[in-house]
Amino acid sequence: MLCKVCGSNWSRIDIIIKEKAIFVYTLSKVLEMAKSMRTQRIGILTAGGDCPGINAAIRGVGKTAIVKYGMKIVGISDGFTGMINKEYKELSEHDLSGILTLGGTILGTSREKPFKTTGKKNEIKKPVLIREHYEQLGLDCLVCIGGNGTLKTAHLLSQEGLNIVGIPKTIDNDVWGTDITFGFDSAVNIAAEAIDRLHSTANSHKRIMVIELMGHNAGWIALYSGIAAGGDVILIPEIPYDEKKITAYLLQRMEENKPYSIVVVAEGIKNPDKERSVAQYLSRKITELTGLETRETVLGYIQRGGTPSPMDRVLATRYGAAAVDMIASREFGNMVALRDDKIVSVPLAEVAGKLKLVEQDNALVVQARNMGTCFGN
Ligand code: F6P
Repeated sequence: MLCKVCGSNWSRIDIIIKEKAIFVYTLSKVLEMAKSMRTQRIGILTAGGDCPGINAAIRGVGKTAIVKYGMKIVGISDGFTGMINKEYKELSEHDLSGILTLGGTILGTSREKPFKTTGKKNEIKKPVLIREHYEQLGLDCLVCIGGNGTLKTAHLLSQEGLNIVGIPKTIDNDVWGTDITFGFDSAVNIAAEAIDRLHSTANSHKRIMVIELMGHNAGWIALYSGIAAGGDVILIPEIPYDEKKITAYLLQRMEENKPYSIVVVAEGIKNPDKERSVAQYLSRKITELTGLETRETVLGYIQRGGTPSPMDRVLATRYGAAAVDMIASREFGNMVALRDDKIVSVPLAEVAGKLKLVEQDNALVVQARNMGTCFGN
């Protein structure tokens, strides 16, 4: 039989195969179109340690999805726990009003790691449950707002075939691939205010004040708030400290008629004392080695609670809106990020398992050193 298009000689079987292929292709395109035309359902969860700005991000995602794209939003409760137990709530625009300035997360959070296995024989396969519930909820995408642990899980789910978009959040600012995470600015403001307040009481009593700040294994909060509030010594995990260098520096300040000193330490620095906080350890050590009167403060969860700073509200809103634009253009398996003040999308595969730490030659470290700040080395 002669082909009408190219004139070549085709057998009947060739023609049947070709027609079938065309039919299957057309059907898949029609199904794809139908899927993209029906209302998209976006799941959203918040996981890991909370931080100021999460609700602003939820609002950014939700309002953009509803107003700009006419999508539907499904809020998943308590991080990945909600996906495992199928606990969720449909979110209307009304639910997203009045949350911009609220601390915490209206969805709740948890540190659930669904890919972590116990090795037990009849262990429930949590990723399987997540996939089942993703399908039962009719989700077209799951937005995962979180720090390093969450983004790693998000990447693994994306490898399992789920449509995932990540949004980086943490006070620690240690997510690889983005210049900044929301939560960090608020935490630095709180920490800097706390250090400011230590100055006057330290001066009255002529004491050494050690203040311990959060940040997990990264020193970003200690570095920024230490510089912002005039810390004399700043200790971060990325720069190993020598106790003798610190004490020599503090004694030198006394000799120079500087009656008090502020020592800002990140929680992740080396702590040889497993029983006490590193602030307590250093405070005792300084007194022991110098005879100077020392007190310690562990600022703790104050840094994570309360209303987000305006900068964090703006950043979280930008991330939320950009995440929905990514969903609309079907850029799944990526995380929104900020680089040179521009929103970009970074593959979760590049982010997962990495940390953004302070480099030893970080410009702020160098500047502070040049102004006499001691980094303990
Ligand atoms: O990641 C944020 C953070 O606050 C860290 O700075 C801190 O080490 C950790 O979380 C505390 O975790 P949790 O809330 O589980 O005590």
